[in-house]
Amino acid sequence: LLGGEVKAGFKKEYGPAELTIKKKSDLLVGIPSGIIVWMSHGDEVVRIPKDFQTIATTKTILHAVAENKNKKIYGIQFHPEVVHTEFGTEVLENFIKICGLNARRSEIDENFVENIIQDIKDSLGSAKAICALSGGVDSSVAALLVNRAIGNNLVCIYIESGLMRKDETEILKAVFEKHYHMNIQIIDAKKEFLKGLKGIVDPEEKRKIIGKTFVDIFEREAKKIDAKFLAQGTIYPDVIESKGTKHAQIIKSHHNVGGLPGKMSLVLIEPLRNFYKDEVRKIGKILGLPDKIINRQPFPGPGLAVRIIGDVTEQKLEILRKADTIVQEEIEKIILHKNLWQVFAVFTGIKTTGVRGDERAYGETIAIRAIEAQDAMSANFARLPYELLDKISTRIVNEVKEVNRVVYDITNKPPATMEWE
Ligand code: XMP
Repeated sequence: LLGGEVKAGFKKEYGPAELTIKKKSDLLVGIPSGIIVWMSHGDEVVRIPKDFQTIATTKTILHAVAENKNKKIYGIQFHPEVVHTEFGTEVLENFIKICGLNARRSEIDENFVENIIQDIKDSLGSAKAICALSGGVDSSVAALLVNRAIGNNLVCIYIESGLMRKDETEILKAVFEKHYHMNIQIIDAKKEFLKGLKGIVDPEEKRKIIGKTFVDIFEREAKKIDAKFLAQGTIYPDVIESKGTKHAQIIKSHHNVGGLPGKMSLVLIEPLRNFYKDEVRKIGKILGLPDKIINRQPFPGPGLAVRIIGDVTEQKLEILRKADTIVQEEIEKIILHKNLWQVFAVFTGIKTTGVRGDERAYGETIAIRAIEAQDAMSANFARLPYELLDKISTRIVNEVKEVNRVVYDITNKPPATMEWE
């Protein structure tokens, strides 16, 4: 639009890059040259517009930051919003200052949370709502907020999809039924999900089917209780990753939002839509949620289905659940998981040869994924101690008879996503 030129890059760049600052700029005040920034692009700016100046470069690209100081137009190639970019927040704060605004976000405290609750109260009035409770941090905090706002008018529906980890339902009952005395209905829909997923291999199709099955069941239940609203624990990264930009390819039809079919007779209410995970945890703490829920690893809506490569069957689910339980038990023991975003097992669908006793065996391969991250947008694989990996691998091949090989995923995000599908 401004007369520059963009081409498909000769070298595509994903992950860390060193930023060399060539020229002073209001956008980079207080930021040293040589910082690590995260890239994720295939295209490249090969020529900037005439009235622009290059501010910073990397080894692979000429124009990593460019500006037109007079018109106050700034362009950056890297992602300032991901935590792996050093000084990313400062770049954004500088930009906000250039815009003449105040860069401070409001503090999340009791008052702030009371305001959210009041907002929900105002929008729902005396209408009934159902809440999609999954037991994860996001849906739990969303349910509690709505419960605090409208009390018994919220019915929480927990759909047992059969795609969950071990003991999910029990934990959920203990916290929300026994402790908070919330109104919870548990729907056994294992057969319905498995039937819908039969023979489906494509990850996005799996997501759509699962999303649709969830919504169909919600709608069915909502009719019974005459609910008008559906509360969901969608958080900010879900919203942006689902929408992308006008020109970007769709990243994933993904994360609750995108997975929902277009027509829905319930009005969505998403009280956490503007928050990052750490902020959601803060809100949960203020609401008194126990640590075991607040510090839970995020778990994808489509559950274990996106951790099984290929079609989903009851038998594969059982194998994966057993392997995953071992991973969780071992990680728990060394309390390392406080620094970890997610640690889980993946059913790779690859069979390999092994030997057991005197016999050759042809068995399944389980992959372990352990990642460090502060938000869902970028991540490093965790440098888990070899002894721990050894213990996990030995236990899995000994205790899950169908498995004879365990591998460790050593890829960062980007370019890999956290989940395998
Ligand atoms: P990816 O795999 O996109 O995952 O790097 C980022 C975070 O999102 C979770 N995730 C999902 N959550 N529905 C969800 O509610 C989904 O379809 C979905 N896919 C991934 C993932 O577990 C990670 O925490």
